[in-house]
Amino acid sequence: MTRVVPADAAGIAEAARIIRAGGLVAFPTETVYGLGADALSVRATAAIFRAKGRPAEDPLIVHLAALDELPRVARRVPAAARALAEAFWPGPLTLVLPKQPAVPPEVTAGLDTVGTRLPAHPVARALIAAAGTPIAAPSANLFARPSPTRPEHVLEDLGGRIDFVLDGGPTEVGLESTVVDLAHGRPRLLRPGGLPAEAIEAVLGQPLLGAPRPGERAGPQVAPGLLAVHYAPRTPLVLLTGNPAAARAALRDELRADLEQGRRVGLLLLEDDRDLVPDGVRAEPVGPWVDPATSAARLFDALRALDRAGLDLIYARDLADPSTGLGRALADRLRRAAHTRRRLE
Ligand code: TXA
Ligand code: MG
Repeated sequence: MTRVVPADAAGIAEAARIIRAGGLVAFPTETVYGLGADALSVRATAAIFRAKGRPAEDPLIVHLAALDELPRVARRVPAAARALAEAFWPGPLTLVLPKQPAVPPEVTAGLDTVGTRLPAHPVARALIAAAGTPIAAPSANLFARPSPTRPEHVLEDLGGRIDFVLDGGPTEVGLESTVVDLAHGRPRLLRPGGLPAEAIEAVLGQPLLGAPRPGERAGPQVAPGLLAVHYAPRTPLVLLTGNPAAARAALRDELRADLEQGRRVGLLLLEDDRDLVPDGVRAEPVGPWVDPATSAARLFDALRALDRAGLDLIYARDLADPSTGLGRALADRLRRAAHTRRRLE
């Protein structure tokens, strides 16, 4: 049985006791729900990997309640990392830093670095402070499924597999944190996310190195979290990319053709496309092209809703300019979620 408890003072206090006792708690952050355990305990963090069905090669992010706790988990904090932490913490930014020996190798998948983050959500911060220990937490979904932005999503994936969910309602950002490697010289973007890369580059005063492409090797191991299919619904997702006007036209034609052939089709619906959706399509709205923050907050909920609808096929096109700001993170998640990608000229 999984208990879902309101994230009030009593709920947070009980969750903190569970963490201290070596248990698992799902809790809200400003990005997505995390599945937390005492980051300094091998046993507690091993249970995270079991509950999620997550491969041991995928390192966990260690969450802190305050910046002055960083030296507990990071052996060295380069000046660039300090500048980014001061500018963007608490917030949706994960800094990869040289790891302290106190952090078990199981948490970092054997790497000598650790991903660290100070979340902005008041419930997350109160929980970490009350637990009195850093909390290791991946997103609280089954491995390779869309990240959870509501407590219902956590239950959908992990109900019966974990003891406790702190219910803080829907999360605000909706996409996971931006991950930047500061442990290997020039800062490198490992995962676009809730904090736009441009904001980071403005503080650094130089461009970030790009992330390795999916499937490419980054140093000694495949860049974690960069598996080709990730965040994916179980229903096949067809993603139309490239020229937006051409993608829009192709979407209209494909939806018509599929309906004619009796297929049950769904659509991740950009507000701009309402006019072209024929009757009979199961549409899940996100935001308009010009407002990627709204689409980010809705993306994973919409994908899960479409996935529950018993469809043969789901269509999507890019939800914003894929080359800038939050559009980059949206484009990344859609490409990883897609089973088929078609590029329009
Ligand atoms: O917003 C978020 O980041 C959410 C909330 C719960 O904080 N967490 C999250 O965790 O998305 P997860 O485990 O789903 O993704 C964390 C990713 C890993 O897959 C990996 O790509 C990267 O962060 N990461 C963590 N530690 C790393 C390290 N030492 N070196 C390189 N990448 C690391
Ligand atoms: Mg995840």
